[in-house]
Amino acid sequence: MTMTQSRPWSHASGKVILLGEHAVVYGVPAIAVGISRGAMARAIPCDESTSVLRLEGLPVDLRADDEERDLARGFRAVLEAAGVHGSFVVEARTDLPPGAGLGCSAALGVALARALDPAANAALTAERAMAWERVFHGNPSGVDTAVSAEGGCIYFERGRGFERVESSAPLLLCVGHTGTISSTKSMVEAVARLRERRPEMVEKSFEGIRSLVRNARLAIEAGDVRALGQLMDLNQMLLSGLFLSTQEIERMCGLARDAGALGAKLTGAGGGGCVAALVENREVADRILRAWKEAGFEGFLAETPDRNRPAERGE
Ligand code: MEV
Repeated sequence: MTMTQSRPWSHASGKVILLGEHAVVYGVPAIAVGISRGAMARAIPCDESTSVLRLEGLPVDLRADDEERDLARGFRAVLEAAGVHGSFVVEARTDLPPGAGLGCSAALGVALARALDPAANAALTAERAMAWERVFHGNPSGVDTAVSAEGGCIYFERGRGFERVESSAPLLLCVGHTGTISSTKSMVEAVARLRERRPEMVEKSFEGIRSLVRNARLAIEAGDVRALGQLMDLNQMLLSGLFLSTQEIERMCGLARDAGALGAKLTGAGGGGCVAALVENREVADRILRAWKEAGFEGFLAETPDRNRPAERGE
């Protein structure tokens, strides 16, 4: 195969949902921040009859001509959405753990869409990446691809797109992994089933989350991280009432609060995956990361808004 000169690597952020996961699938707004861990991809024009995806670091034996494979289907969907002419070898990498609620699949979709058309703006890139997301997540709201493409802090509403939220203070988050992988698709389906069985209870929770999200936006804009932490705690209570929390998630949130977190909650789909704890400074962050480590949980400090934003990379 002859490959001509490649384009530069395109970046996409991973994400932490500060408030509003699950409810966002049903039209309630959510607030999410990009983190600097994420995905990257580059497209190298080639003379093959079809494009090829090379996904490093993931234990998948990918053959792009295999109809059964989700990755191959997702790749073809992004190629189609981006209206690509010609063939490319597309190389992609991620340093996000899959099934952890940090937006691994959305970041890969965004990195692929961006590599295929680097000139597209964030909203168009996110829309194209949705073709990939739908293969993996069935009914994605779009918040993950939006924040992955835009980076920074966004306020997202399904069907309306996103607005940037300018935070007056840096948002320091400890992100810790419960060690259990969870499927976003299954968790979203579980909430859909619960909503069918107990519509009033679920709607009440969603309305509660709606007002938490609204207040959180104001708190972020005002730089009131204490208020934001309290709102995250309340969001966690409502998520746990929807059966999305686990013993490990509760344990990690408790350890984080005991070590001085302003608030802590699951992030993403729940049922395992990651916890995000908001902290005031690095000392508290170190205490939390230490407490998690002693209890057997891995974690890292994510300073947000992330540094993946194109404007901040000088592009
Ligand atoms: C997953 O990161 C967030 C969910 O709200 C699903 C979605 O918005 O598509 C659980």
